[in-house]
Amino acid sequence: MNDSATPAIGLDPYLDWLRREAIPVVEDFGVDLHGVDTRPWARYGVNGAAVHLKGRGDFVAMFVLDIAPAAASAPQRHLYEEVLYVLSGRGSTTIETGDGRTHSFEWGPHSLFAIPLNTRYRHFNGSGTERARLAATTSLPAVLNMFHNEAFVFDNPFSFNERMGAQKYFSGEGDFVPVRPGQHMWETNFVPDLSAIELKVWNERGKGSKNIMFILADGTMHAHISEMQVGTYKKAHRHGPDFHVMCVTGDGYSLLWYEGDADFRQVKWRHGTVFAPPDRMFHQHFNTSSQPARYLATAFGSLRYPFTEAKRRALMGSGAGDKQGAVATSVKLGGDQIEFEDQSPRIHALYLEETRGSGVPVTFQPA
Ligand SMILES: [Fe+2]
Repeated sequence: MNDSATPAIGLDPYLDWLRREAIPVVEDFGVDLHGVDTRPWARYGVNGAAVHLKGRGDFVAMFVLDIAPAAASAPQRHLYEEVLYVLSGRGSTTIETGDGRTHSFEWGPHSLFAIPLNTRYRHFNGSGTERARLAATTSLPAVLNMFHNEAFVFDNPFSFNERMGAQKYFSGEGDFVPVRPGQHMWETNFVPDLSAIELKVWNERGKGSKNIMFILADGTMHAHISEMQVGTYKKAHRHGPDFHVMCVTGDGYSLLWYEGDADFRQVKWRHGTVFAPPDRMFHQHFNTSSQPARYLATAFGSLRYPFTEAKRRALMGSGAGDKQGAVATSVKLGGDQIEFEDQSPRIHALYLEETRGSGVPVTFQPA
């Protein structure tokens, strides 16, 4: 019962919680995660910061954890999902599952893993001299704004035993789940090295394009990795917000624009850069490096559990018999992708300009 003079409307329990956590909050279009200022985060016992990207959407927030040499995070348990990418450093994570077992795995740069829902976990920096930095994508905004009860979210004894997966999922092994190009999945809880995992060809997003979808800890959180070959770029497309795009290998740039815009917005990226294309903003990724460029994308709504109709349409399509997602279907066919032959000539001209003098051979022609 609120009897104060100020009516309780327009609340955001997640943002209220974040304010009380008293950690830095970075708000920007794109961010260099290596450079984010972190401060002591009492809850975790290590340094932390929140990263709110313009296109983060309603469901997802990102946190940076910065662990001092030989330090460890305080034990955590919570009712929201969390997918972590290791930016730098080496260490391990211990997870206590509801069946009383403890699982431990060692991570390093480019590792990806998920915390199975509501399990107790700790991160350990395994180095005595180097710091370790992790980027966590979480569904805390969705969960806290849904229940707006912190005890329910952070002090809940329920065990989701069906989320643990096979024991091998904690050791870096997984199961390949073939679906179709663009939708092949790797099911696991832990990927030791995103720069080394085998990807599958998905030419519909651009010749030589490769990807793999992840299903991590049977989660609703989305993760996939894509690769562009040397001297190539992907086709432009658009979708809803919340895909947090993180460069894993190589370097390059992305162009973003809304339909009808006179100019593009350019984001240059290298390892550590994250940005989230805002709602329905066209975006196109370009590899300007002399190695294949890989990027990780985390979001809410996995291929297994898309959660929203918009994510289902983006990932799986909605037309009868059409199982290709709108992200890889031409706008001329009702999808959200701009085919190479339909793109503005300025796009390829800029790519030639950006790669000129770099020694990167560009033989690719968009049409
Ligand atoms: Fe995208």
